[in-house]
Amino acid sequence: MATFRELLITTESQLEAADLYFGHGYFDAHDEAVALVLAAEGLDPLTGSEILDCEMSDTGQQKLRGFLRQRVSDRRPTAYIIGYAALGALTFSCDKRALVPRSPLMSVIHEGYSPWFSQAVPERIVDVCCGGGSLGLLAAYHSPASTVFLLDIDKGALALAETNRRGQELPNARCLRADLLATLAPDSVDIILANPPYVDAEDMSNLPQEFHHEPRIALAAGDDGLDLVHELLRQAAHVLTSHGVLFLEVGNSAPALAKSYPNIAFTWLELYNGGHGVCAVSASELKHSNDLTDSGPSQV
Ligand SMILES: C[S@@+](CC[C@H](N)C(=O)[O-])C[C@H]1O[C@@H](n2cnc3c(N)ncnc32)[C@H](O)[C@@H]1O
Repeated sequence: MATFRELLITTESQLEAADLYFGHGYFDAHDEAVALVLAAEGLDPLTGSEILDCEMSDTGQQKLRGFLRQRVSDRRPTAYIIGYAALGALTFSCDKRALVPRSPLMSVIHEGYSPWFSQAVPERIVDVCCGGGSLGLLAAYHSPASTVFLLDIDKGALALAETNRRGQELPNARCLRADLLATLAPDSVDIILANPPYVDAEDMSNLPQEFHHEPRIALAAGDDGLDLVHELLRQAAHVLTSHGVLFLEVGNSAPALAKSYPNIAFTWLELYNGGHGVCAVSASELKHSNDLTDSGPSQV
């Protein structure tokens, strides 16, 4: 028999020794060891140190060995192994249909879009490229008076987002299949949260193995990582209300974005929870930009 303390120590050292990539919702080997051990025993992820000197069940230990094989040999992200992931205040079902939730845009939601959005409550918020729905559902949770649309082109990702929406019981959120913002009416959205695929070709060819378990459609975005962003900016200019704001995450593709649109004032954000390549841009900045064509989305 072994205690949770002993199993945590051995799990952490096996993870440490395996030269893994830690960036899918966990900081380090210790963090992942805690998640794997608790999940193997079927315990709440917030269980505290009171269990450390209790014995782990045989079934739990057997399950843990299977989890470790998947993490170490297959390089599968922990969130896919245990089937859930936390972002901010919420926990989401998580599987290979969508990325493991980890977007730094979470901090923007927590801060109530301040100081970028000047109205009291956004009437309509859109999470475009919503994947499993983490950002849109967090937005709906923190702004119960807002209507939140979660949009994705991929049926699998959207089905996961819908499962998460039902699980969170957020009646102010709706999941819709859409190509970017093409189905939205002009001047109808106060806040756009955009976490599109933005990994450029060079980064795609150097990704740690963990990322290859995630859907390619959620990551790859052409040579400079901006394949979807050009159309997204054009559509955002059209659908945002005059006081609206687009919050856009482009990660390492930030320099390419700034270079493509030298006349648009993107404000690059310092986020309290870390992360980089996230900007805010106002509707008026987009609507008055000569860098964006004025024809709007193909359908509204
Ligand atoms: C970076 S992931 C989003 C991750 C999401 N924030 C989450 O927590 O799961 C990008 C998403 O964009 C979606 N996507 C790709 N092309 C799209 C398009 N043309 N229109 C809408 N969604 C698209 C992918 O299916 C993927 O789910």
